[in-house]
Amino acid sequence: MRKPYLAGNWKMNLDRRSAIELAIALREGVGERTDVDVGVAPPFVYLDAVLQALDSSPIWVGAQNVADQDSGAFTGEISAAMLADLGVDFTIIGHSERRHVYGETDDQVNTKVHRALEVGLEVILCVGETLEEREAKSTEKVVRTHLTRGLEGVSADDMDRVTIAYEPVWAIGTGLTATPEQAGEVHEYLRGLVSGLYDEGIAGKIRIQYGGSVKPGNVAELMAVPDVDGALVGGASLQPELFLPIVGFQD
Ligand code: PGA
Repeated sequence: MRKPYLAGNWKMNLDRRSAIELAIALREGVGERTDVDVGVAPPFVYLDAVLQALDSSPIWVGAQNVADQDSGAFTGEISAAMLADLGVDFTIIGHSERRHVYGETDDQVNTKVHRALEVGLEVILCVGETLEEREAKSTEKVVRTHLTRGLEGVSADDMDRVTIAYEPVWAIGTGLTATPEQAGEVHEYLRGLVSGLYDEGIAGKIRIQYGGSVKPGNVAELMAVPDVDGALVGGASLQPELFLPIVGFQD
């Protein structure tokens, strides 16, 4: 059985005080529960404060992005080693806002995956098609490229630390959610790809999150889909009264 994994991507929101307050509210709301894994990805500058606030909590703390270089003259970048040094647990890689707003390529995504895994971080690798691509019936082609290029050279052993997030770009921050059927089709396809790239054992273990306008009102029906193992939540992860019911979707 795959344990559900609910992660919040805070994006470029909050200030120091509200980030700490949100972390404390989540710490109290999540308590010691172990039936689900929970993660939050604050902006880089609040990682340290959120790590401290969640010190005694099972909630994982992650970054939203990581550099594709080890170290050196890369102004403005944050390396995987720096994140590991700080005590960060995971990093999101290849989010559609990185791909589409900042022009991140599959090559960069793949290098970032390697940088993160090399230093012991866990990875949430995001894949997903735009509305145009869906309408052109190229969803499978797009997610196949994102997945296979993103995982190029990743060993079977390291796949233990990889989670995939299927995030249709047209559903992110738009209020549009993929139907459970739409999500299920792509998740099943992705799991099949992992089986082909690795083996059935790895495909059976890897968690595939759905992301795109996940809310307390739709999380249960999405999580009921056999291949949906969690959610990567943007907007609704910024308020404990929305994120905690998502974490507690089984309650
Ligand atoms: P959203 O964002 O929940 O606000 O749609 C999801 C994401 O970008 O991870």
